Amino acid sequence: MKIIAILFIVLAVIKLSISNCYWSENCHYKQFSSKTPYQFVRGDIRDSIVKLKGCKAISVWSLVRHGKRNPGILYAQSMMDLTTMKYDIKMNHENGKGSMCAQDVENLYNWEADPNMFKNLHQIAAEGYQEMYGIGYRLRKTFKDLLKSLGDKDYKIRPAYGAWIENGVKGFVEGFGNTSMIIQKSNAVYDIMAPYEACSFYLNEVRYNQETFAELYKYQSSSEFLAVKHRIQQRTGADFTLSNKNITALYDLCRYTSSGLSNELSPWCAIFNKEDLQVIEYEGDLRHFYRNGYGNPLNEIFGRIPLADLLESFKIAKNGKGKKLTVYFTHATMMDMVYTTLGLFKDEKPLNGSFRNPERKWRSSKIAPFAANLIVTLNRCSIGQSTDYNVAFYMNEEPLKSICNEGVCSWEDFEIKLKPFTNSTLAFC
Ligand SMILES: *[C@@H]1O[C@H](CO)[C@@H](O)[C@H](O)[C@H]1NC(C)=O
Ligand SMILES: *[C@@H]1O[C@H](CO)[C@@H](O)[C@H](O)[C@H]1NC(C)=O
Ligand SMILES: *[C@@H]1O[C@H](CO)[C@@H](O)[C@H](O)[C@H]1NC(C)=O
Ligand SMILES: *[C@@H]1O[C@H](CO)[C@@H](O)[C@H](O)[C@H]1NC(C)=O
Repeated sequence: MKIIAILFIVLAVIKLSISNCYWSENCHYKQFSSKTPYQFVRGDIRDSIVKLKGCKAISVWSLVRHGKRNPGILYAQSMMDLTTMKYDIKMNHENGKGSMCAQDVENLYNWEADPNMFKNLHQIAAEGYQEMYGIGYRLRKTFKDLLKSLGDKDYKIRPAYGAWIENGVKGFVEGFGNTSMIIQKSNAVYDIMAPYEACSFYLNEVRYNQETFAELYKYQSSSEFLAVKHRIQQRTGADFTLSNKNITALYDLCRYTSSGLSNELSPWCAIFNKEDLQVIEYEGDLRHFYRNGYGNPLNEIFGRIPLADLLESFKIAKNGKGKKLTVYFTHATMMDMVYTTLGLFKDEKPLNGSFRNPERKWRSSKIAPFAANLIVTLNRCSIGQSTDYNVAFYMNEEPLKSICNEGVCSWEDFEIKLKPFTNSTLAFC
């Protein structure tokens, strides 16, 4: 009896030491902060377009973040250095160290780096091009009457500065169905879809100021975060102490080498469990919150610039002279700033490094995934003899319900909301 009991305990312990298998798990956590594949969080504008009786869209305005790009030099180097860990993990597993299951270890061992990812640093990835293609394609399908045949003066397409953004726009126009469309030149010095780039005051005070990341650093020394590091250390059986930088590199390997379009998660993700991914995602939320969001009062000012353009565009369109389509391509920073200016996804208390609120509204995986977008339509409605206008907002191709009634604002509400942003100056820069 005693022997059976001991045997039972030993078996239970052995069973416990192998954590869940990633490959056979059904429900994976797919929110990877600002490197979330668009496919994992998007809606579909074709289905979600709000149809209102007697109304039709007369102008579409949108702000689109570039699609998936390759990592930049600093992060890519750490990622490359850590790819050799797949050999260590296999060896550790064979020596009874680490707690990953056999198939996960084997999948990781068989993983090969996509040569393009480490060669064309910071450039648009094939998947990012497809993400842009998809948005162009679905926009064209959704507004088939309005966007059927566009003359040169009927639309405006302009990217922010950066080869990875500009190359993605080619995907957009291809998906839209007209590769001859005129893409305006980006402006390296200043443009309305990235006004902070030219603001040295912001860059010094916020972006490159380490104080901006104080709550993030605090979080990195919290017991919750240290527990994640400990679990990853145990799971991989690594014989060196994993640094925060190493954890970031492993996380980057997981998210950059997962594919949204083919719905395939990277074997590197098997190193993390769901809670680990949620904790690391929160690091991203803290970074975005303080660098681009409510965490600093400067951030809200920059979002006014594109929003003033939106109001102006629709005023002109309402008077019958506007563009049918305006699309600006930009960075995650701008998406964060615009939602901040609109007062959306604002938590009662600012995010901090002492407590990760699972119910928080501020989510970088939703606000600024790859190809994140805000699409706004001006609708003209005829009710009997009278004509009225309203404005519908969509975030990542789903109605942006929290802005107004189910995402549709009356013209008056729209104007009241955006008017304060006209004539904004960036004199403090
Ligand atoms: C882990 O991170 C440290 C610095 O934090 C770095 O020196 C080391 O090279 C990294 N290890 C690997 C295997 O990349
Ligand atoms: C494609 O775009 C070009 C440039 O704006 C325009 O001249 C042409 O009419 C467009 N073709 C179609 C089919 O809309
Ligand atoms: C952190 O934020 C939570 C709310 O999310 C709040 O209750 C708590 O007091 C804050 N902690 C600090 C140290 O500011
Ligand atoms: C913006 O400036 C113009 C020209 O100076 C002025 O006519 C208009 O009233 C101003 N709008 C707001 C909302 O301050």
